[in-house]
Amino acid sequence: MTSTTHLSQDFPRHFLRDDDLTQAQQADVLRLAIELKAARTAGLHPKRPLEGPKTAALLFDKPSTRTRLSFSVGVAELGGFPLLIDASTSQLGRGEPVEDTARVLSRQVALITWRTFEHAKLEAMAAASDVPVVNALTDLLHPCQILADLQTVAEHRPGGVDALPGTVFAYVGDGNNNMANSYLLGGAVAGMHVVVGTPETHLPDPGILEDARRAAALTGGSVSVVHDAAEAVAGADVVATDTWVSMGQEAEAASRETPFVPFAVTPELMAGAKPDAGVLHCLPAYRGKEIDASYLDGPGSWVWDEAENRLHAQKALLVALLEAREGLPFPGA
Ligand code: CP
Repeated sequence: MTSTTHLSQDFPRHFLRDDDLTQAQQADVLRLAIELKAARTAGLHPKRPLEGPKTAALLFDKPSTRTRLSFSVGVAELGGFPLLIDASTSQLGRGEPVEDTARVLSRQVALITWRTFEHAKLEAMAAASDVPVVNALTDLLHPCQILADLQTVAEHRPGGVDALPGTVFAYVGDGNNNMANSYLLGGAVAGMHVVVGTPETHLPDPGILEDARRAAALTGGSVSVVHDAAEAVAGADVVATDTWVSMGQEAEAASRETPFVPFAVTPELMAGAKPDAGVLHCLPAYRGKEIDASYLDGPGSWVWDEAENRLHAQKALLVALLEAREGLPFPGA
C-alpha cells in the first residue's frame, strides 16, 4: 500500500510542545494517522521507518497505561523494538545529568520518548540528543494526547481534518493542568475556538495562554478562559474534561474537588452544548466526579476512539519525525 499523505517539509527535529508543529504539519500528521488506522484495519502496516529493528527508548517517570501501551505497540508496528525504561530506577532517578543520558541513548537508539515532571528537563534532553525526542507528558503539556484528540474530532465531525478550523472546543475542569495547556496550544494551532472553563483559582499557564493567542492569530482560531461552566460549553461542538486530581496531587484529592463540581460533565451542563456535541476525556476517568458515566459509556462517547487514536496519531508523528531525519521530505511519494 502506498501512502497518499505527503508530509510538509521542514518537520521539527523533536516534538515537545503542541506548537512545535505548524497548522499544515499538524494536519498532515492527522491525515496520515487516519490513513494508518485504515491500513491497520486492513491488516497492513505501510510505514516501517524503524525496520531493523531499530530501538526506541520509552522512558517513564510517572505511571501510564495508554501512553506506554500506544508507544510500545506503535514502535513495534513501525518495525522497531520498544525499550521501556522505568526512569526512576535508572541512573536518571539517582541524579545522572539529563544531558549525559541523552548522549548515551543517542548512540544506541533511534528515538526517545519521555514522560516526566519538569518540562525544562525534557527540553534539556532534546537539546543534548542526536535523535528525535517526544513529549510523552510533562507537568506543563501533553501534546501527543492532543494529536489523538484532534484525530478523534476529525473522524467524528463532517469534513474531517479540513473541518477542524472553526470547531468550537470547550474544556471544563482544572484549567491549571497539562491538558488545559495543551488544548489551548494544540487547539489554537488547529484553528479551533478553544474555551477553557475553570475556577478563577485554577488558571492555565500564562505563558502558554500567550503562546496560544499567538498561534490562534495565525490560524484564525481563538482562545479564551471563562469561569462559568455554562458559558464555557455554550454552542460547543466538543466538550472535553480531565481528572480533577492530576498525577502527584493524590494527597490533596478531597480538598481539590469542591471548586470543580460546577464544571462536571453532566446532562445539565451538556444541555448548553450543540445537540450532537462529542465528549472527550483523556483517561483515567472518575465516573460521578468530573464526568457522568453516561458520557463515558454511552453511545455518544468519543472517549474510547480517543484512547485508540493515541496509537495511530503517535505512529504518524513518529513516521514524520523519523522520515524527516532521513531527509525524506515527502514520505510515501
Ligand atoms: N491519557 C494518558 O496519558 O493516559 P496514561 O496516563 O494511562 O498514559
